[in-house]
Amino acid sequence: MKILVFTEKPFAPAAVKAIENVVNASGNELEVVEGGTRADLLEAVKTANGLIVRSDKIDSEVMDAAPNLKVIVRAGAGYDNIDLDAATKHGICVMNTPGQNSNAVAELVFGMIVMMCRNQYNGKSGSELKGKSLGIYAFGQVGRNVARIAKGFGMKLQALDTFVPDAVMEGEGVTPVHTPAELFENNDFVSLHIPATPETRKSIGYDLMMRMPKGGVLINTARKEVIDEEGLKKAMLERPDLRYISDIKPDDAEAFEKEFGVRVFFTPKKMGAQTAEANFNAGVAAAEQAVAYLKDGWNKFQVNK
Ligand code: 3PG
Repeated sequence: MKILVFTEKPFAPAAVKAIENVVNASGNELEVVEGGTRADLLEAVKTANGLIVRSDKIDSEVMDAAPNLKVIVRAGAGYDNIDLDAATKHGICVMNTPGQNSNAVAELVFGMIVMMCRNQYNGKSGSELKGKSLGIYAFGQVGRNVARIAKGFGMKLQALDTFVPDAVMEGEGVTPVHTPAELFENNDFVSLHIPATPETRKSIGYDLMMRMPKGGVLINTARKEVIDEEGLKKAMLERPDLRYISDIKPDDAEAFEKEFGVRVFFTPKKMGAQTAEANFNAGVAAAEQAVAYLKDGWNKFQVNK
């Protein structure tokens, strides 16, 4: 059977080699298409039984073009790029690879925070993280890694996650809060790790930003869809102390950069999971999961019903 790896943003070469080893050892065949067009995807999926992607958009058009497709593995955490209902209708199992790239994302959070607190290294006097408070919005795999690293910086920690019992957070030295308002009011920094869902869409905007203490910094390594860009802009215009860092450029990135200068920073392309280690971990896990599903229906991380 054929497993297709189709990624706009390529994995590190060592990760591709490791994926190849897993697929070859299973007796399946591998095709890798990096940086291909939509037309390339529609052509390559025609003969695919398994598909491995990253943030690549997989909708019913792709599934219609893939009559033999049985499993899609998102090599990563968020699967908002995959139409789950369409997959279910097509009888396709969708899985993610939870946790495999979470350290990479968490490390980037601090790379960007330090850069912002040193005014993007423009020579002006900045500030330190020690003794400051960090609010972690969603205490999943990335949120927990963020907490672990923040402790090394000597930060005070709070987290909000309705799915995680208070005792679990407390066990990791994190104070639980129970509303977004509390999280934004209590913390110098808020780091977002919520998924993009109909409930979270545009949920972070003017009201929450205006609650932040003086000098508040919002860090977004989650999804741009969770931000209400107009509300954020309004708050930043009214409060010249507020800052915003994101690993996912806002739709209106140029306007933000023009208006706010060193108070904003956006990576040119989503970089959170773009490390050799994360590529290797997520890529190999995805390959193993695709192989196991095709072999005997193994579906531990299935995300569609
Ligand atoms: C994820 O959801 O796993 C991260 O956002 C990484 O996405 P990427 O694989 O497109 O870099």
